[in-house]
Amino acid sequence: IIKYFVVIAIVFVYGSDATTTLLNTNSFPPNFTFGVATAAYQIEGAWDEDGKGESIWDRFTHEYPHRISDASTADIACNSYHKYKEDVQLIKALGVDYYRFSISWTRILPTGYLNNINEAGIQYYNNLINELIANGIDPVITIYHWDLPQTLQELGGWPNSELVTHYVNFAKIAFENFGDRVKTWITFNEPKQICKLGYGDGSLAPGYKSSGIGDYRCVYTILKSHAEAYHLYHNQFNTDKQGKVGFTMDNFWYEPGSTSRADEAAVERVFEFYLGIFANPIYGTGDFPQIVKDTVGNRSLLQGFETSRLPTFTTEEVARIKGTADFFGLNFYTAVKIGNNEADLSTVSWDSDAGILYWWDPSWPSAASYWLKVVPYGIRKALKKIKDTYGDHPIIITENGYSDHGELDDYDRVNYYLTYLSSILEAIYEDDVKVVGYTAWSLLDNFEWVHGYVSRFGIHAVDFNDPNRPRTPKLSAKIFSEIVSNRTLRS
Ligand code: NOJ
Repeated sequence: IIKYFVVIAIVFVYGSDATTTLLNTNSFPPNFTFGVATAAYQIEGAWDEDGKGESIWDRFTHEYPHRISDASTADIACNSYHKYKEDVQLIKALGVDYYRFSISWTRILPTGYLNNINEAGIQYYNNLINELIANGIDPVITIYHWDLPQTLQELGGWPNSELVTHYVNFAKIAFENFGDRVKTWITFNEPKQICKLGYGDGSLAPGYKSSGIGDYRCVYTILKSHAEAYHLYHNQFNTDKQGKVGFTMDNFWYEPGSTSRADEAAVERVFEFYLGIFANPIYGTGDFPQIVKDTVGNRSLLQGFETSRLPTFTTEEVARIKGTADFFGLNFYTAVKIGNNEADLSTVSWDSDAGILYWWDPSWPSAASYWLKVVPYGIRKALKKIKDTYGDHPIIITENGYSDHGELDDYDRVNYYLTYLSSILEAIYEDDVKVVGYTAWSLLDNFEWVHGYVSRFGIHAVDFNDPNRPRTPKLSAKIFSEIVSNRTLRS
């Protein structure tokens, strides 16, 4: 309790120091919305029940258990497939406006192909959506959150442009079946992770290393898939004009390792390679960023072969992709330091395409995830940078959260939420960034990909040793629900 008041006091001072007196800048703007998020593979379980087919994550966890920290799978996970009604009650108790969840491709199309539509899968999401609406919660759907049908991986996965058609078929089924009740759609979640880690260094499913070729082809397919789904929705399904389609990217705050011009240039490079490669085609000029084209898009011939690793958009593709988002979806967690050769810490990593070193400042407090450092000012700076680069799009923070080992009295998570939300308020009131929504990751402790159940992001604990998977609210669930009901950081 004392710790809790200390945290509140810190935020009170932190918030009031930095804000002006004219507005109540500790309160969220009137139309600001709050939500919580999950993803199908991370929570549903029931991996082969009621006709569900195999996804690349089913295959990856079953085939390579040693690549998951605790050798676990999400075969059962939180068992939300069977416990969704209970989950909806937890969401309702939080008082949030919306629930962001993803739909499992292979629950709906078990083989990835249209000749086998699994009605039980459609029914499950209809039940979930209806239950949410009956409880006053808006459903927000992520169409793709990493669980590609294994059969489509057998075609080569996202580096193969044929996936555009398959993705659009899947999106169309979702729009047809759920579009009457779902008005906010996210086509893809964190494409950088899908491409760079799934097909570049191979650390995430399907686990392919491609020497920096497949990952750029993956980027190309995803951007085209997104654009086609966007047009399909607006041309055929958004009849009441209430619907919105966006794209969710992850981004860190990239902090220069020093004030040298070279380090500042390194920051610009990494921003373009990690965010601009998606954001510039959709929210900017329609094409890949110039620095990326200059570095990996060199089209000279070497022994008769083109040396470019970056696909080239046709003029028609640029026109088709540019401007295809009604909001900017941002998953934001942390900061990282970026530089050239200055850092002589033993823990630096190197990204050869972006030509940068990156490392985490040892003074930044760490969450259970090694990459997640608590740097609240980073979110304000990143939001401003996005606005300055791509213009004044409505931004939905589609994820933000903190990992620990599952403690119920999760003061560090509470501190994280309070300080990050305070920084978001500064972005709104002082930098005039149009942040319109905030989503806490995650509703539940769940399967954290290659980190299994070791690091936990939930505001509700799940007992993974109990076959019933009971849920328990953590302190953060209580504090978050207070913020949501007061619409302010001061209670
Ligand atoms: C990003 C991903 O979208 C989500 O699936 C993951 O669990 C969280 N961040 C935390 O790492």
